[in-house]
Amino acid sequence: MRVLGIETSCDETGVALYDGEGGLMAHALYSQIPLHARYGGVVPELASRDHVRKLLPLLHKVLDEAGVESTGINGVAYTAGPGLVGALLVGTLTGRALAWSMGVPAIAVHHMEGHLLAPMLEPDPPEFPFLALLVSGGHSMLVEVSGVGRYQVLGDSIDDAVGEAFDKTAKLLGLSYPGGPVLSELARQGDPGRFTFPRPMTDRPGLDFSFSGLKTFALNTWRDSEQTDKDRADIARAFEDAVVDTMAIKCRRAVAQTGIYSLVVAGGVGANRTLRERLAGLMDREGGRVYYPRPEFCTDNGAMIAYAGYRRLQAGQSEPLSVKAMPRWSLEELEPA
Ligand code: KG4
Ligand code: ZN
Repeated sequence: MRVLGIETSCDETGVALYDGEGGLMAHALYSQIPLHARYGGVVPELASRDHVRKLLPLLHKVLDEAGVESTGINGVAYTAGPGLVGALLVGTLTGRALAWSMGVPAIAVHHMEGHLLAPMLEPDPPEFPFLALLVSGGHSMLVEVSGVGRYQVLGDSIDDAVGEAFDKTAKLLGLSYPGGPVLSELARQGDPGRFTFPRPMTDRPGLDFSFSGLKTFALNTWRDSEQTDKDRADIARAFEDAVVDTMAIKCRRAVAQTGIYSLVVAGGVGANRTLRERLAGLMDREGGRVYYPRPEFCTDNGAMIAYAGYRRLQAGQSEPLSVKAMPRWSLEELEPA
């Protein structure tokens, strides 16, 4: 069974073809980062227009690379939410229309389900049940995953998502967009002993996250400093250490609470090297294991959508002819597959 996957929820156009027997056949990604960089963040209208420009060429590229004709496709999956509504509409309408024209089922995929199933694309995939730390530009969540579509959200962000906090802190330090990877690179040169930032919400029980205070803490520290390159690097280091430490504390708590010793880390911030190393060490000490998608499948991509669509189609699920794009959509509303 072969499923074409389309991702257009934010600032990346992604297309991929997944085959139930052969695995991932081809994938292509177009990042809009240079388009949005000059505005310091994603401009939704520009994002939608650019998806319109790039989606069909990427679809052709993936089919050419895979050497597959449209008649060799059994389903079309597209991200139906959450995300920017205009951007989502490009993928949902194209995907639904393509499926209709090819006479195959269409599958509406939840973007975060795509992220949390992404490690299944790797050679040594996790088995259910597992815990998932989903950390992206829009979400910071800890989820108990007992199967495809069987999700219990154990903790969620109550304000800024972790990627958003990375991006906003990077911006106030004068770094370019998207700030997460740039700030993280700079943090490697920072002195870990100079500033200590708080570990938000770790002094009380629970698994929710709050990162907006850290951003304010960074702003005040930056304002009180002489704003040299060294100050910038030291603040980046203190910020990243606080974020990574906070997530490690919550993951350890989630392991203790659930007795589940497999941890999946996915979403854009899952590409962060310090976080990856820290959680690998933590799960090792706990006698468990951590699973990551390869870094390019941590950030948005079509492969994770093709895979999630494949799992749902395999379970006999598909969409009617109507099209839904859902900017807000809880993981817990999904049907088990
Ligand atoms: O999953 P993603 O590509 O898009 C969303 O679904 O939001 O995540 C993008 C987020 C951005 O906030 C970006 O700054 C952050 O992931 N990010 C990172 C790193 N790479 C991407 N944050 C910290 N360290 C990184 N290496
Ligand atoms: Zn994402």
